[in-house]
Amino acid sequence: MKALILSGGYGTRLRPLTYSQQKQLIPVANKPVLFYAIEDVIEVGVKEIGIITGPNREQVIETVSSVEWDAEITFIHQGDPKGLAHAILVAEEFLGDDEFVMYLGDNILRDGVLEHASKFRKLKPDSLILLTEVDEPQRFGVAELDEGGRVKRLVEKPKVPPSNYALVGIYFFKPVIIEACKNIKPSWRNELEITDAIQWLIDNEYRVEASIVKGWWKDTGKPEDILEANRLILEDIQPKNEGKAENSRIVGRVVIGPRTVIKNSVIKGPCVIGENCRIVNSYIGPYTSIGNNCEIEETEIEDSVIMDGSKIINAGRIVESLIGRNVHVQEYNYMPKGHRLILGDNSNIVL
Ligand code: G1P
Repeated sequence: MKALILSGGYGTRLRPLTYSQQKQLIPVANKPVLFYAIEDVIEVGVKEIGIITGPNREQVIETVSSVEWDAEITFIHQGDPKGLAHAILVAEEFLGDDEFVMYLGDNILRDGVLEHASKFRKLKPDSLILLTEVDEPQRFGVAELDEGGRVKRLVEKPKVPPSNYALVGIYFFKPVIIEACKNIKPSWRNELEITDAIQWLIDNEYRVEASIVKGWWKDTGKPEDILEANRLILEDIQPKNEGKAENSRIVGRVVIGPRTVIKNSVIKGPCVIGENCRIVNSYIGPYTSIGNNCEIEETEIEDSVIMDGSKIINAGRIVESLIGRNVHVQEYNYMPKGHRLILGDNSNIVL
């Protein structure tokens, strides 16, 4: 089995972060979201992975290539994002005649895909889709099932959802899906929808089975989803302290990277702090991830994601925040008093 992992798209709901960063590279617990997908497909024995790239192609290639994977990786350029079914067509040559798992690179699944891959291998359907019950099905592709649990119909982001079963962004396919993708028309959002291609399989009497996801699943499309995925991943981390702590209190499950120095501070897990950081006279609270080369002084941070190279000094209390790379936040102690802000387009500040 091959894998096709999608790492394109503009990530508009994550602006301004996505002006400079491909959305699948945003870190959750200090690891790019995309890496969770790569690890999951390698875990089910995939040896050939195609990664679909879009606007920030070079960044994706550089980040993925910085790690040694136990699989051969081919980068396939999609250009303009014209839909998930379009991505399959762009990868036609790579996919050849093999069955494959398609994994949206911004999805994270707690328990990986082992159970679903073995179901696909055992039942041998033309497609196996993953479903999970959600509160807001209208945000996703939705499946209608019959009494026996067979998939009857799929609709993309319906106003009136036929069920609460959302399509998780992980799909198993036999090569016939390529024919399906060639036979569908663009949707109202002008994309070739994978949902329509799977519906084409159903309409043409191919066998589509469903597998229900029991552990948590997150589609990290919006800032609050990144924070939630960060909490969920941190929930399972194992403590490891490679840094140096002086006159500090470290409580609970905390990961601290090499060359990080913590002075006169309190760190309360679960949280991760990257390499080469300086944390001084500060409090880092539960569900916080701090990237590499960060400096935190005289500040309290809780339930947040702070990316590489950021400096947060004398900034009061920061909660539920998503802070990009090389950001500088500091209290200004001179006249005239007031907030001095230099913010990128689409920034979001709550004072
Ligand atoms: C895509 C699919 C949708 C699926 C979702 C899962 O939506 O079209 O059916 O439920 O991924 O993440 P999109 O992210 O393109 O809005």
